[in-house]
Amino acid sequence: MKFTLINEIVQNFKGDAVVVFSNSNTVFNDDNIQQLIKLNHFDSKPGKVLLLNLVSGFKSKQVIVSGVGDAPISAKNYVKALNAVIIILIEIKAKNLMVQHIGIKDFNELWVHETTAKVMYNATYKVQKVGSCKKQNSGIECIAIQSTMDSIYGLMKGQAIADGMSLTRHLGDLPSNICTPSYLADTAMSLAQEFNLECEVLEEVDMEKLGMCSLLAVSKGSSEPPKLISLSYQGNGNEKPIVLVGKGVTFDSGGISLKPGTGMDEMKYDMCGAASVLGVMRVIAQIKPKINLVVVLPAVENMPAHNASKPGDVVKSMSGKTIEILNTDAEGRLILCDALTYVKRFNPEVVIDVATLTGAVVIALGKYNSGLMSNDKDLANDIISASKVSLDGVWQLPIEDEYDELLQSNFADMANIGGSEAGSITAGCFLSRFTQDYRWAHLDIAGTAWLSGDKKGATGRPVSLLTQFILDQI
Ligand code: BES
Ligand code: MN
Ligand code: ZN
Repeated sequence: MKFTLINEIVQNFKGDAVVVFSNSNTVFNDDNIQQLIKLNHFDSKPGKVLLLNLVSGFKSKQVIVSGVGDAPISAKNYVKALNAVIIILIEIKAKNLMVQHIGIKDFNELWVHETTAKVMYNATYKVQKVGSCKKQNSGIECIAIQSTMDSIYGLMKGQAIADGMSLTRHLGDLPSNICTPSYLADTAMSLAQEFNLECEVLEEVDMEKLGMCSLLAVSKGSSEPPKLISLSYQGNGNEKPIVLVGKGVTFDSGGISLKPGTGMDEMKYDMCGAASVLGVMRVIAQIKPKINLVVVLPAVENMPAHNASKPGDVVKSMSGKTIEILNTDAEGRLILCDALTYVKRFNPEVVIDVATLTGAVVIALGKYNSGLMSNDKDLANDIISASKVSLDGVWQLPIEDEYDELLQSNFADMANIGGSEAGSITAGCFLSRFTQDYRWAHLDIAGTAWLSGDKKGATGRPVSLLTQFILDQI
C-alpha cells in the first residue's frame, strides 16, 4: 500500500474510487453529488458513508461520500471519516483511489497528509492468524491524496508512523508462548540489522552483576530467561539522547499474587510498553531525524512457581534502595525501577517510560487517554502538546508527597504497593523515587495499548505521540 500526492480534480481521477467529504453545512461542490446526497438523505455525520456508483461527470467507477460533521472540520471527525472510508474501500475491493483535499481546523496541509496516511494505513491492519505465513492484505494498492504541494514529507512521516505502529501491534497481538523476552530480543536485533542501529542484550548473569535484584525477583519464577534490551539510534553526534523505557512483561499472571482467571489472556499485552518503544525506534530509524534516541526494554515473564518471589520478600534494587514486595502482581514497577537506574549510563536529556502499569488507570481514564506523570512541568507540557498533534491522548495525574507517603514499609525503604487508593499515582510515585537524576515522564498505557471484546487487539499507541514528541525536540 502506497501513498502519493496528486494535483488534479476528483472528477478526472481514473482509478477505482474517489473519496469526497461532506459536512453538515455545505455539501461537496458538485451538482450531481449534491443531488445524490439529498436523494439518499445523507446527513454527513462523521463515520457515515454513502457509496455512489457510476456518477456522471466522474471518471472513476465509484464515489464514496464521507461525512465529516460540522464545519470547521475537527481533526477527530476527520479521523472518524477516514476510518469509515477504509471499511467501504475494502468491501468494494478498491485498488487505486484518490482522496479529496479538505482543510482541518487548527492544522496545516502537511498534517492532513500525515494523518491521512497514518490513519488509512493503520485502518487496514489485520491481525495475522498464528501459524499462517501469508500476510493479510487489504487489497488497496495506491492512495493518492489531492494536493498542490510538492513536499511528500507528511506522507513519508505518516507512513513511517503507521509502519512502526504495525510492528507494535503485531508484537502485542502475538501470544506469550511466541512473544517471550527472547523473542523481543531477537526482534530488536533484526531491527538493528535492518536499520543499522546499535543493539545490546543483557542476560540474567549480566543483570546479577549490575545488582538488578528487583527486576530478577520478578522473572525468577519463570523458565523464560529475562533480557534487558537496548537499541540506539545516533542521528546527532554525541548530543545527549532521549531515552525511552518500555515495560516488557511478556505475560503477567500476577505471580504468587495470582490474578483472577477471567480475561487473564489479555495479560499477554503486558509487553505493549516495550513493543511501543520498539515501534518508535522503527519510525525514527526510518525518518532519520537529527536526534539521538535510545530505547530500553526490560523483558521478563511473571509466573507463580516454587521459586517465585513471595509477598513479604525484600529485595535490593540496582539503586541500592530496598523494596518490600507486598504484592507480586505489582511487578511492572519492580522491573522498571532497575531499568530506570540503568539508563543513567546514557546521560539522558530526558527519560520517558511507557508501561501497562495499573488497572486503576483504566478505571480513571478508560481507553481514551494514557495517564501522564512527570517530575518536570515543561516536559509534561511538551508531551501534552505532542498528544494534541498526534491525536494520541494523554491526561496528567499529580505526583505529590501525600501519595508518595503511602509507599511506606516497616521492613524496607519502600513497599511496592500503596494501598487501594490512587493506584496509578502511587505507582508513578514509586518510579519517581528512581528518576531524581534526570527529567522524567511516565506514561501509563494500561487502558490505551489494546482493545478488549470483539475488537480485541493492540492499538499501536503511544507510538504516534512519542514520535511527535521526539520530532518536536529538534
Ligand atoms: N499489568 C498489570 C496492570 C493491568 C491490569 C493492565 C489490568 C491492564 C489491565 C500490572 O502489573 C498489575 O497487575 N497492577 C496491579 C497493581 C496492584 C497489585 C497494586 C493492578 O493494577 O491491579
Ligand atoms: Mn501485574
Ligand atoms: Zn503487569
